[in-house]
Amino acid sequence: MTTLVVYYSLSGNTRTVATALAQRLGADIEEIRCSRYTRSFSGFLRACYDSWRGYLPQLEPLQHAPSRYDLVVVGGPIWAWHPAPPVRAFLRQEASRIPAMAFLLTHGGAAAQQSLREMEQLAGQAPTATLVVREVDIKNGGFEAAVSSFASTLQKQQAA
Ligand SMILES: Cc1cc2nc3c(=O)[nH]c(=O)nc-3n(C[C@H](O)[C@H](O)[C@H](O)COP(=O)(O)O)c2cc1C
Repeated sequence: MTTLVVYYSLSGNTRTVATALAQRLGADIEEIRCSRYTRSFSGFLRACYDSWRGYLPQLEPLQHAPSRYDLVVVGGPIWAWHPAPPVRAFLRQEASRIPAMAFLLTHGGAAAQQSLREMEQLAGQAPTATLVVREVDIKNGGFEAAVSSFASTLQKQQAA
């Protein structure tokens, strides 16, 4: 079984979790790149507005072909109570060609379950597993146990 961890991260939280997960799984990893969003006040406003209105931004070309993997873990942050637009754009663009998916979200404390449902709707398939990590647990290192448990779940599913 081959696994790709693909994620979007503006401020690094999702990158931290995705990198730890890929290492545990021995998976390939790819960052979704989108030049539309920047770490500035105007960038924050644009990110919130786009997320709220469901805008799907242009993504930079991927280095890996997600459709060639047995499982793709898709990760990103929550922005304005929705999965960040680059994550939604990735799902709209790629999900129909991916055989199985799992979802990873990082957030500040709100809207995780509704964001997972939204990812599932966009993907057109239910995830095999989900991992939600709060920003505070990334900053204090408390996410490691959750990543370990999530990786074990995915490995058991793959072995079954
Ligand atoms: C534009 C913007 C909007 C956000 N909106 C939410 C939100 O609605 N709910 C929430 O729990 N966290 C929200 N956050 C916090 C992020 O989800 C959280 O910091 C996440 O871990 C950032 O991931 P990243 O560092 O990988 O970009 C928001 C952050 C940004 C920048």
